[in-house]
Amino acid sequence: MALSRRAFLKAPAALAATALLPGSLLAAVEAETPPLPDLSDWDSVRAQFDLNPSTAQFASFFIASHPAPVRAAIEGYRRAIDRDPLHVVEQALFMGPEHNLPLRVQTQMGEYLGARPQDVCLTGNTTTGLALVYHGLPLRPGEEVLTTTHDHYSHHESIRLATERAGAGIRKVALFEDASSASTESIIDALLKGIGPQTRVVGLTWVHSASGIRLPIREIAAALRARSGPPLALVVDGVHGLGSTDENVADMGCDYFCAGTHKWMFGPRGTGLVWANADNWARLRPMVPSFSDWDQYQAWEQDRAPTTPNNANRMTPGGFHAYEHQWGTAAAFGMHRQMGRARVAARIRSLNDQLKAGLAENPKVKVHTPRSGELSAGLVSFEVDGVAPTDVVRQLLDKRIIASTSPYAITYVRLAPSLVNTPEQVEHAVRAVREISG
Ligand SMILES: Cc1ncc(COP(=O)(O)O)c(C=O)c1O
Repeated sequence: MALSRRAFLKAPAALAATALLPGSLLAAVEAETPPLPDLSDWDSVRAQFDLNPSTAQFASFFIASHPAPVRAAIEGYRRAIDRDPLHVVEQALFMGPEHNLPLRVQTQMGEYLGARPQDVCLTGNTTTGLALVYHGLPLRPGEEVLTTTHDHYSHHESIRLATERAGAGIRKVALFEDASSASTESIIDALLKGIGPQTRVVGLTWVHSASGIRLPIREIAAALRARSGPPLALVVDGVHGLGSTDENVADMGCDYFCAGTHKWMFGPRGTGLVWANADNWARLRPMVPSFSDWDQYQAWEQDRAPTTPNNANRMTPGGFHAYEHQWGTAAAFGMHRQMGRARVAARIRSLNDQLKAGLAENPKVKVHTPRSGELSAGLVSFEVDGVAPTDVVRQLLDKRIIASTSPYAITYVRLAPSLVNTPEQVEHAVRAVREISG
C-alpha cells in the first residue's frame, strides 16, 4: 500500500491541487460514459456485442465478449487511471465509502445476489474463488471433502491442493449415470449416500459444463441441513448458473458460492466473486493479504494479528489489480438489472428448450442435458452417433456455428444458446447437426 488511509485522509491540500477532488472521479467518469442503452428487446441486447456477425456464437459462456456498456465503463476508468494513477486508485480504494469503487461493485453484485455488499468478496475468476475458500476452510487431518465425479478441473484441483496441505482427504461420488434421466430425488439420494463419518465439506457445481445439468442446490442444501451428524459446509461452483438462472443466490442454502462474472454476467474478463454470510466468512482463514480490510492493515501497522472476525473484504486478494476491469463489473451487473433477472432466465430457457426439442427429433443424437428447465440452464451437451465431438465442432464451424467440446475425461459437444443468439440461429444449429449426423 503506497499510502495508508490515515495518511491519505490527512492530505486534502495535496489532493485539492489535483484535478481529481474526492467525489469527482466517479462524476468525471460518468460524465464521459454513455448511459445504459434501451435493453427492452433482444435485438438491442444483441447489438451491444461486437461479435463477428458472420458466425452464430454458441460458446459465449466460455469467456465473455464485453458488451458496449462494459466496454464504455472499462474505457472510462482506464482513461481516469491513465491520467493520474496514484490519486485515482488511492481515492477509489482508500477514501470514504462514498468514493469506494470496489464497494460500488460489491453493492451491485449484492443486489443481484440478494446479499449484503460487505459479504461479497471480489476475485479474478471462479478458480481463484474456489482456491480461496478450500484453502481457507479449517480442515483437520483425517477429515474429508466430499465432491462428485462431475466437477470441473478448477474445483477438483482446488480441493486436492487444499486437502493435501491440511492432511485431509477428498472423495468423489457420481450423482448419476446419465444426467438426462437424473431427478432431484435421485441426485439427493446419491449425495446423501456418499457422505461418510469424516465428511465435513461438500463441494458441488450448480450448472455442469460437462452435461449441462443444473443441480437443485436449494433442495440439496435443505437435505444436507435436515440430516443428523456434524454440520457440513456446502461449497458451490456457480459460474454457469449466475446470469443464466433466476435465483437469489444468497438464500439458496449454500455456504460458499464461487463464480466468475466474466461468463454469463458479461463482466470484464478476469473478474469474479465469492459470496458467504458473515458467520461463514468468520470460519475461513485468508490466504492472500487484502487491500480492502482496514482492520487488517491497522493490525499490521501495530505489529499484531487482526482481532476482528474474518470477512469478505479480508478474503479479497490484495495487491493492485486491473482496476478498470474490476470496477467495470458494476456496469455488467447494472445491465443485467436493467434486463431483469427473470426475463434473462426466461429467454435463455426458451432458446435452450427450442434447441433440445430440435435435437431430440434426431435419432442419431443423444442429448445428455435434462429436458426439464428446472434441471438445466443455458448449456446443451450432446453426442452424434459415429462422429467424434471434435469433428462435430469442426463441421459446425465450417457452417459458421461456434460450438465447443467439454474439457472433461469424457467429452461431449456443447451448444449454449444465450442472449447473443436468436431462435433463427438455434434453428440453423439444429439443421446443421442434422446434416452432420447424416
Ligand atoms: C464449471 C466450471 N467451473 C469453473 C470454470 C473456470 O472458470 P474461471 O475461468 O472463472 O476460473 C469453468 C470454466 O469454464 C467451468 O466450466
